[in-house]
Amino acid sequence: MKAGMSEAYILGIESSCDETAAAVVRSGEQLISNIVASQIATHQPYGGVVPELASREHLRAIVPVVRQALVESGKTYENIDALAVTQGPGLAGSLLVGISYAKALAFALDKPLIAVNHLEGHIHAVLLEERQKGNREIRFPVLALVVSGGHTHLYLAKQSAESWSYENIGHTRDDAAGEAFDKVAKLLGLGYPGGPVIDRLSTHGDPRAVKFAISQIKHPDRRTQSTTVSRPGKKTEGAPPFAVFEGWEKETHDHPRFDFSYSGIKTAVLRYVETHSLAASIESRRRALAAITKPKLEDFLANCDKQTLDLISSFQRTMVEDLVVKTLAAARHYNVATLFVTGGVAANNELRQTFEREAAKEGMAVYFPSRPLSTDNAAMIAAAAYPKFLANDFASMDFSAEAGMALK
Ligand code: KG4
Ligand code: ZN
Repeated sequence: MKAGMSEAYILGIESSCDETAAAVVRSGEQLISNIVASQIATHQPYGGVVPELASREHLRAIVPVVRQALVESGKTYENIDALAVTQGPGLAGSLLVGISYAKALAFALDKPLIAVNHLEGHIHAVLLEERQKGNREIRFPVLALVVSGGHTHLYLAKQSAESWSYENIGHTRDDAAGEAFDKVAKLLGLGYPGGPVIDRLSTHGDPRAVKFAISQIKHPDRRTQSTTVSRPGKKTEGAPPFAVFEGWEKETHDHPRFDFSYSGIKTAVLRYVETHSLAASIESRRRALAAITKPKLEDFLANCDKQTLDLISSFQRTMVEDLVVKTLAAARHYNVATLFVTGGVAANNELRQTFEREAAKEGMAVYFPSRPLSTDNAAMIAAAAYPKFLANDFASMDFSAEAGMALK
């Protein structure tokens, strides 16, 4: 199929962080194959992603992962229509592995190559799956929360003809939400990545046991030159489970900002650990879990006392409430009809349930990707590339990785 025609099979490649992934997607609406090689085992001993090791692992995995995605799609290199690859944001060395391989393939096969922003990919994971379910009636305005290990961003997503554009109306001032999950898990001796294990352990503790306060942003972000104003909170009927978010930011040209901050809660957990003398029990848990090849939920539970489970559960509840309250405050301000919640942290059960419940009260639709498409994958890259394919928006062969790439 030639560029300019409406149906297209796109081979997507993603290598921005610690997953080497490839996928084939038809016309941004049907997942044909989806392969993800995770590097979790490599990074686990370090409690986080080690950039040099990530690049090395991508180099090892990229050829077999791409080949497998093609084999499983039933396509050949010759009869795919275009290639798509993540340009950024992400780890420069990791991005370059995917980009170099995609360029070499595109050159050898004489196929067009599309450069995709990873964050746009997370947003298109939602669109891909909604279209696949037959839902083609997304109501606008759309607000997307992209919440992962590296990002906590709010975007107003707009569509004009086939092409999409994005306005950032909020971001984290310090740690991303997933980073807070990972750092707290590491601090408590629970290993890496922290999100999935905290998610599963949280239902075994008391979410109200420990009171954490997340900092409300009152000071302007030096990067955006904003000034702070306060607005009276709108009370909803019944007994709202959350405090209404009142501190919000106003930029000089009347664009309010809805920013997040998650480094404080990590410090608060550390302080709790110190004041309750938990260091010794954390160390023995760390050792016990490190001795088990693939610890299961029972292993984690056997190594966590009630106090620790309460701490974990309270941490998660605080994170979820803050993400939901701030996102809904932004959604109300912009009269949003539809919410997308995407990125690794969108896999979180409590976050999904809370968003579903609270968005329903506001009459907003809320969509998440399935769990496999919440975390990093290449199907979302191939899906985000489709509107660019239709617009003949192809990358020149001299483009490079953009570690800090912004989404516009
Ligand atoms: O989107 P992703 O795979 O990579 C980035 O682009 O960062 O997100 C990975 C992040 C990690 O911080 C991980 O701990 C978090 O997503 N995560 C979760 C859950 N599953 C993954 N956080 C909370 N609950 C989960 N179930
Ligand atoms: Zn991601």
